[in-house]
Amino acid sequence: MTAKEIETIEKTAVFVRQSLSKAEGGHDWWHACRVWKTATRLAGEENADPFVVQLGALLHDIADAKFHDGDETLGPGIARDFLQKQGVDEKVVDHVVKIIKNISFKNSFEGPGFQSKELDVVGDADRLDALGAIGIARTFNYGGHKGFALYDPDIPPQKHRSKEDYKKSSAPTLNHFYEKLFLLKDRMKTRTGKKLAEARHRFMEAYIGQFLEEWEGRK
Ligand code: ADP
Ligand code: NI
Repeated sequence: MTAKEIETIEKTAVFVRQSLSKAEGGHDWWHACRVWKTATRLAGEENADPFVVQLGALLHDIADAKFHDGDETLGPGIARDFLQKQGVDEKVVDHVVKIIKNISFKNSFEGPGFQSKELDVVGDADRLDALGAIGIARTFNYGGHKGFALYDPDIPPQKHRSKEDYKKSSAPTLNHFYEKLFLLKDRMKTRTGKKLAEARHRFMEAYIGQFLEEWEGRK
């Protein structure tokens, strides 16, 4: 990367940190920062463009629609304005905006949209942050933020068939493991991403096993 590109990455990190200073704990600057780190690692192995990957990772949740009345144009718009102000090449801006528009799990119900190596890398890094010890913490934090129950044996997990269905769910937090998190390991795109996802998946399975045993007073 050029010195100018490195400077742009640094400015983007500062901008994201400020913008997400009041965000919910699972979608805050530290989520962006972890995705940035993991994406940078995966980019090297996948031969993806490091500049596009790092900008995409940093900006991917700059204005998540679920915290902005469902407005899915806000995040891509903020990212585009910011990058244009930094004088970033228009081709790079377009690619980063496409990554932000296409990364979301909820949009996967509508079939594959834009595809690129860089989207695969940022997407895998984002999915990995939904898994493992951090994934568990984020999920219960989100459930608490929304006021969901931890678990309710009378409300079984649903197989969501559409984006609308998925978005309006207010089911107990434990159901989210079956409705989304346990599906992620089979959606990984990169080699290292798959390997890490499998280990994090096993950790979550063990955790949920213990949770359900404790629920029944058995362990
Ligand atoms: P995307 O933005 O890719 O559509 P989400 O925002 O739905 O994905 O998920 C990001 C993280 O937020 C999840 O991995 C999970 O930790 C948390 N989360 C989202 N929806 C729920 C939910 N209904 N219950 C509990 N946690 C959730
Ligand atoms: Ni994210």
